[in-house]
Amino acid sequence: MLTVSAPGKLMLLGEHAVVYGYPCLVTAVSERLEVSIEEKEAPGIEIVAPQVKDTRFVDAAITAVKKRIKFLEEKGLKITTRSPFSGVYGFGSSSAVTVATLFGLFKFFGREISRRELFDLAFKTVLDVQRVGSGFDVAAAIYGGTILYGKGGQPLEEVELSTKDVTLVVGYSGVKSNTVAIVNEVAKKRKEYPERVERIFKAIADFVGKARKSIADEDWVSLGKFMNFNQDYLRDLGVSTEKLEALIYAAKGAGALGAKLSGAGGGDCMIALVGKNSINDVEAAIVSAGGEVVRVAVNESGVS
Ligand code: PMV
Repeated sequence: MLTVSAPGKLMLLGEHAVVYGYPCLVTAVSERLEVSIEEKEAPGIEIVAPQVKDTRFVDAAITAVKKRIKFLEEKGLKITTRSPFSGVYGFGSSSAVTVATLFGLFKFFGREISRRELFDLAFKTVLDVQRVGSGFDVAAAIYGGTILYGKGGQPLEEVELSTKDVTLVVGYSGVKSNTVAIVNEVAKKRKEYPERVERIFKAIADFVGKARKSIADEDWVSLGKFMNFNQDYLRDLGVSTEKLEALIYAAKGAGALGAKLSGAGGGDCMIALVGKNSINDVEAAIVSAGGEVVRVAVNESGVS
């Protein structure tokens, strides 16, 4: 039996703008999705995915590999997925399962695939299923660490994010967001008000560039400020919610250096940049405001 795993992700800055070609910053998290592959006697492929609500991404990954590895047809295979994290948090279980299935099948059949080829194939596979997306989650699942990412992998640069003095506190809003629906809403808004929305994206992209420098300089006060500015623009874009705002406000009130929603918005999680001394206070404030603290480590390694 062969087992591979790929990490989930958290968007640090740049969501939505990244769909339109601007860069974002994303970090891989310690919640990993596992895929095991083993031979079985009867031909055909059996998928066992107890925690996944549908197997579309696994199915699409198998279809993609079948086009490249001919003898897959004759094998009897059992593919089992395991996820310690719930799909509700928005940590990117769809992209992680796609990456892990593709990588696992290539390894299982003794085929080499470079990270770049794997990225192109996985991004295409995810788009085949859900049509929209920048691929930032696919890149995090493959490369791991923290990366500056642009749609389609242009740019794709590893960023050293030190967690010596700061950490990310993650608060779940209790509402599962629908990424595809929100991305489509933003697309509609952009069509109706192109200049206004483009201005928002440009401002977000500017904060991404500045945040990248703050990370390199380990200037956490500035990074927090840019996260806050990013959140102001996301609110302006109409993707924040009252609940997310309440958690963000609570985190900042308890000493977070900066806080924002992470991902499409409309629910899922918020993140707060927190100095090591304030972790307990910020976590308690998020819980008091009705959120659920989800403990994850950042900078996790990519698919392996
Ligand atoms: O909702 P999530 O966590 O999958 O994040 C979506 C981020 C977007 O920028 C809105 C879409 C994308 O694919 O980049």
